[in-house]
Amino acid sequence: MMKRAVPYLVTLWLLWLGGGASTAHQERPNIVIIVADDLGWNDVSFHGSNQIPTPNIDALAYDGIILNRHYVPPLCTPSRASLMTGKHPMNIGMQDHVIISDEPWGLGLDQKLMPQYFREAGYRTHLVGKWHLGFFRRAYTPTYRGFDSHFGYLGPYIDYWDHSLQMNETSARGLDMRRNTAVNYDANGTYATDLFNDEAVRLIDSHNRSKPLFLVLTHLAPHTGNEDDPLQAPADEIAKFDYIQDPKRRTLAAMVSRIDTGVGRIYRSLERRRMLNNTIILFYADNGAPTLGIHANSGSNYPLRGQKESPWEGAVRGAALIWSRLLPRKGVVSNQWLHVSDWLPTLGHAAGIRIPPNASPIDGQNQWSTLTSSSSGGRTVVMNNAHNEFTYSSYIKRGWKYVNGTSFKGAYDRWLGQLKDGEQISHEDYYKRLIASQSIGSAMQLTRDDVKRLRAKAMVECSSAQGTVCEPLKRPCLFNIVEDPCERNNQANAYPHILRELETDVNGYRKRSVPSRQQPSDSRADPARHNGTWTWWLEGLGTQSPTHNLQQLFSTFQSFMEYFMALFAKVEAKLLAKQKYSPWEGAVRGAALIWSPLLPRKRVVSEQWIHVSDWLPTLGHAAGIQSIPAGGPIDGQNQWLTLQSASVDGRTVVMHNVDRRYGYRSYMKQGWKYINGTTARGIYDGWLGQLSDQEDQLSEEGYFAQLLNDSFIGGSMLLSEEQVREVRQSATLRCAEDVQAIPCEPLVKPCLFNVVEDPCERVNLADEYPEMLKDLQSDVERFKRTALPPRNQPSDSRSDPALHNYTWTWWQDEMDEQQHMAPYILYLAAAIEILLILIVLWCGH
Ligand SMILES: *[C@@H]1O[C@H](CO)[C@@H](O)[C@H](O)[C@H]1NC(C)=O
Ligand SMILES: *[C@@H]1O[C@H](CO)[C@@H](O)[C@H](O)[C@H]1NC(C)=O
Ligand SMILES: *[C@@H]1O[C@H](CO)[C@@H](O)[C@H](O)[C@H]1NC(C)=O
Ligand SMILES: *[C@@H]1O[C@H](CO)[C@@H](O)[C@H](O)[C@H]1NC(C)=O
Ligand SMILES: *[C@@H]1O[C@H](CO)[C@@H](O)[C@H](O)[C@H]1NC(C)=O
Ligand SMILES: *[C@@H]1O[C@H](CO)[C@@H](O)[C@H](O)[C@H]1NC(C)=O
Ligand SMILES: *[C@@H]1O[C@H](CO)[C@@H](O)[C@H](O)[C@H]1NC(C)=O
Ligand SMILES: *[C@@H]1O[C@H](CO)[C@@H](O)[C@H](O)[C@H]1NC(C)=O
Ligand SMILES: *[C@@H]1O[C@H](CO)[C@@H](O)[C@H](O)[C@H]1NC(C)=O
Repeated sequence: MMKRAVPYLVTLWLLWLGGGASTAHQERPNIVIIVADDLGWNDVSFHGSNQIPTPNIDALAYDGIILNRHYVPPLCTPSRASLMTGKHPMNIGMQDHVIISDEPWGLGLDQKLMPQYFREAGYRTHLVGKWHLGFFRRAYTPTYRGFDSHFGYLGPYIDYWDHSLQMNETSARGLDMRRNTAVNYDANGTYATDLFNDEAVRLIDSHNRSKPLFLVLTHLAPHTGNEDDPLQAPADEIAKFDYIQDPKRRTLAAMVSRIDTGVGRIYRSLERRRMLNNTIILFYADNGAPTLGIHANSGSNYPLRGQKESPWEGAVRGAALIWSRLLPRKGVVSNQWLHVSDWLPTLGHAAGIRIPPNASPIDGQNQWSTLTSSSSGGRTVVMNNAHNEFTYSSYIKRGWKYVNGTSFKGAYDRWLGQLKDGEQISHEDYYKRLIASQSIGSAMQLTRDDVKRLRAKAMVECSSAQGTVCEPLKRPCLFNIVEDPCERNNQANAYPHILRELETDVNGYRKRSVPSRQQPSDSRADPARHNGTWTWWLEGLGTQSPTHNLQQLFSTFQSFMEYFMALFAKVEAKLLAKQKYSPWEGAVRGAALIWSPLLPRKRVVSEQWIHVSDWLPTLGHAAGIQSIPAGGPIDGQNQWLTLQSASVDGRTVVMHNVDRRYGYRSYMKQGWKYINGTTARGIYDGWLGQLSDQEDQLSEEGYFAQLLNDSFIGGSMLLSEEQVREVRQSATLRCAEDVQAIPCEPLVKPCLFNVVEDPCERVNLADEYPEMLKDLQSDVERFKRTALPPRNQPSDSRSDPALHNYTWTWWQDEMDEQQHMAPYILYLAAAIEILLILIVLWCGH
């Protein structure tokens, strides 16, 4: 009870103090997230190697926190999806695959992304570099997903110089470089990493400090470019690494080094703008390096096992650090478990943004307290992936790792990328570069000893014990990943109960996972069809740019529908217009009949207007119930008399809807129907579902045989074939075929139909009967004014059956109680508050 009252008290207290939102707002920290693509564990120097010196990155690491157990999904798209949503890719259908640029799918528009949260909290939000979360429709692209600006590319990678993407040797090539939504041709010829660093610095330099900054820089480097020239770097940069023999690794070193230069420039820029003290910088690798195979970049995850796109640590345990003067700890190596999905709740917490908690332990968790103190608990489980195609699983719980199955038939299961002795600079040279005046380390007072100590702590030591071999394609393996980080000793036989426990977890997560959103490739994406560019090829021509969530949601829906329609290309038109959830007759004129010996009329087709709300007063009347109150003209009316006799006038108006979501109106009065606006941008406005002639139908003979057969109820009704033919005939709709159709464009202007003569809504009479149109319109607006707002509420993740023993249940009962209690507690709190104030004032005298 008292516990619940505390937050209210605190809120009131703050309000009384006049503190509150506005001052807190200005103190929100700037967030800078820098992501390197396919960077190996051993391709930065803070893990101990002197081969590729990264002095600026290392300076942040030594002056901040080295995140030595930072786990990431083993591939680009899943990793980025997880950062953006704070969820595990398996729980949002983003596991297993990357988005190939001609595949029409992306991160679900129902997900709320990190930049959306930060933008709502007053941040300026920018993305520089790679997106790779879908672009087949514009609604999927960064500036429609919460980023104020984007400069970079939308697909998996590009050429470092001309910024074109060719997915493989035989496929098409196209430019993939944009400033916001516009194709960028000017940058052609500038090295991509420099381009992105320049943009990040420009954004910081021009940032208006009245708002906090949220900047995500997702580098191309050191991912490969296209297959014709995979490893690219400026010649002068490559020349700095002449001590590396392998020309590929030498180029990789130059690619990484250029990222490092950028990190230094970004830091200096924040310093220059006096933003540094209030900034959090997060640097991490999106997944391990691919030493071999697809997009191999000669990166090294050594001594970790495996590489990108595998179940092993080399894929999922990525280089990472966080630096901020707001963190009390610095110069430490953290061995706490972190997952990339944790950053949304964690940075959200640091920025004072409420991020709804996740239901599943493999989703993001707020780790701010883990970062600020070495003792607190933090995460205990990390799901790497339960891959459906390769059918491997990789999962960590309380320091135990479960691996069953593997990728590429085990081709990456080894310890890859061991560096050659000698091909590196000395430790002394390394230290000199770290504290050299052009490095940001120069101002950080990093002593030789501190650096030595931190590097030693950050290095992975493989256990020397001779281990039991793991054959993941034959049977599941178990590793003690804390003592055996290199996955050399399979302990499955020694700890069968732990193996089983982890296996049960994995199967549970797999079962609850969302199916992959991946779609097969679509040849219409070909850049040759789009002036040589990769672009949103499924964006309908002339459609308006969506500006908020609803429209975005609805454009996914639209693409789904279009896909469907193309599939069943039966859109050509004839019968009763249109369909469910539309203003048209196909949505609102429904099949219906009433049967009773109590009705004097029978075997008739009634053309009288009836609305479903009429049944309560009508059946109530038939049952002699007097107490049913009468409603307005669009509410239910007693139609018992209408049913009894053809000559009685019944209902004259039917209000179909004044829809708030799509803004359409559909209304009928005395046989005239008014339509303004429509649903789903009009994709249901055609005449749908025409049946093919003759095929797939019973013959008339067959129909009568069934209808009049004694074994059906028709057999006892003494129906003659002739009567049946007559009734059927008058119940069959006839479109006004002989009249010239006049098209209705309900999104452009209101339409009017005579639905008695033209039940198929083919002839728009709006221009011919403007007075009638106006009359119906004014009715509609009148009804609209008295309408109550819709009761629908946004969805609530707490209803998830996973939280309620897998049932759908009344998940809000307990919360309702709390809500009922709230005002009462507020009064109590206010009373205490006033009392306190009085005491304070009284003491002051
Ligand atoms: C190259 O890309 C095209 C288009 O996505 C695809 O159809 C083809 O199978 C790919 N070829 C290879 C060898 O991967
Ligand atoms: C980049 O510029 C070069 C030289 O001007 C030109 O040949 C090439 O087509 C351009 N590439 C793209 C992708 O626009
Ligand atoms: C920064 O933004 C504030 C508030 O929007 C505005 O008053 C101020 O002029 C801006 N400063 C600059 C330098 O644009
Ligand atoms: C940042 O904070 C430090 C100490 O907290 C202070 O010495 C320094 O002047 C501050 N720098 C800026 C630019 O505000
Ligand atoms: C291990 O993975 C294989 C597929 O690679 C699967 O058939 C098997 O059921 C898995 N074993 C367990 C115990 O889950
Ligand atoms: C088509 O591409 C060329 C460069 O290849 C560019 O100059 C031109 O503006 C593009 N045209 C359109 C309509 O985008
Ligand atoms: C038709 O509907 C649109 C919104 O869908 C509305 O803005 C417009 O005012 C309506 N027109 C009339 C004449 O009511
Ligand atoms: C009536 O229906 C039954 C069951 O469907 C069927 O066996 C029988 O042949 C039918 N009789 C006629 C006359 O169609
Ligand atoms: C939870 O669900 C299982 C069936 O899945 C059922 O047997 C059990 O009784 C349920 N537990 C509770 C507390 O409702």
